[in-house]
Amino acid sequence: MKNNHKIIAANWKMNGSEELMNEFSKFMLAKHNEIIICPPFTLLDSAKTLLPSFIKIGAQNCSEEDKGPFTGEISASMLQEKSVSHVLIGHSERRTLFKETDDVIFKKTKAAIKSKLTPIVCIGETLSEKKANKTLQVLDCQIDGSLAKINPHEQVIVAYEPVWAIGTGLTPDENEIKETHLHIKTKLGQHFNADIPVLYGGSANAKNCSQIISIDNVGGLLVGGASLTKHEFIAICNC
Ligand code: 13P
Repeated sequence: MKNNHKIIAANWKMNGSEELMNEFSKFMLAKHNEIIICPPFTLLDSAKTLLPSFIKIGAQNCSEEDKGPFTGEISASMLQEKSVSHVLIGHSERRTLFKETDDVIFKKTKAAIKSKLTPIVCIGETLSEKKANKTLQVLDCQIDGSLAKINPHEQVIVAYEPVWAIGTGLTPDENEIKETHLHIKTKLGQHFNADIPVLYGGSANAKNCSQIISIDNVGGLLVGGASLTKHEFIAICNC
């Protein structure tokens, strides 16, 4: 039942331009998947104006605060005013480069929900954690730290992105994805009332998307590099 409807989310990271958005505006695809494009903040307005209305718009981060003296920050309520429906939280680049802890990620998730945005909370192990056989332990810890205090009635999305697979061309094998997604789904199922979609992210592309998306408990994809080329991304959306 849950395998027909998939979520395909694009994380443009610090890439893209008005020109690229314009190119994406002529979007041709079957609408059986839910498509979310997360451009940089500066392109949110043009995403709203140019993209077809069936494409949802996401941001890549939000502040844990609602307003105040936080120079350079953008709050969830400000994003909501921009017709944003989703927001990525705790991407591994934010965890690593901007030192976001699970507690910060929890607060951002709470702020997003308060402003009626759907948070896409990212989790994933590093290569050394994988090598030390700590993947499931790390994922448990990230889920406990960022989601355990969220009201079980809320709807969130989780993206499993092994850090070592991001931007490397490497992906876990089918059995690894199967095992981790089952583990994450089971853990989330013990807390949340609703069925929480678990997306896979990390070197997903037009070639491997059909195989990955058909694995049990994979609710869709979070795509980085391959989402910046229109034809590649459309192929992924149609997979
Ligand atoms: P790549 O698809 O470029 O590996 O990036 C994945 C990612 O970080 C999406 O959030």
